[in-house]
Amino acid sequence: MNGSSLLKFWVFAAVFGMPVLVTPPLLATVVPPGTHDEIRDRMEPFGSLCRTGDDCSGAGSGQAAGARNASATLTGEQVYSQFCFACHTTGISESPIFGDVQAWAPRIAKGVDVLWENTTGGLGLMPIRGTCMNCSDDELRAAMDYIIDRAK
Ligand code: HEC
Repeated sequence: MNGSSLLKFWVFAAVFGMPVLVTPPLLATVVPPGTHDEIRDRMEPFGSLCRTGDDCSGAGSGQAAGARNASATLTGEQVYSQFCFACHTTGISESPIFGDVQAWAPRIAKGVDVLWENTTGGLGLMPIRGTCMNCSDDELRAAMDYIIDRAK
């Protein structure tokens, strides 16, 4: 290489090489650090977040932050306060209110089998599984029993 083509080489290298060197760090800074974690957390299904320091119930407590331990069973009260309360505490859409003995009496009179059918399958504006799609049957049943027990 003579001097002139060496110069051309460097000009070429500088012009085309620069973006290769500079672009990756630039791209990396477009998304602030931590954002990916935050987005992932927000995309966790509602009610399944278990952050460090939270009491994530029974077997779940002490687990790493971020995911619900599949083996951690929610109590009826926990399912109620995460999913059912939104309607059953407020009475929205004519939901029978939690603890309202009169409102629940005719429903309880139908028998638990019918109530269970409607808890899993939905009834009118009562959504299927009370919106807790991740609940096991046991968890959902515990929530239903919790509601019924407090309305007797
Ligand atoms: C989006 C609101 C909403 C949520 C959330 C909700 N419910 Fe309901 N629920 C209703 C409404 C409204 C009714 C009354 C339906 C009707 O009689 O037409 C109802 C009725 C019921 C009944 C009585 C069914 C019957 O046969 O009379 C049970 C039991 C029940 N809900 C359990 C639950 C449980 C358990 C959860 C949580 C896992 C839950 N619901 C979450 C709105 C809700």
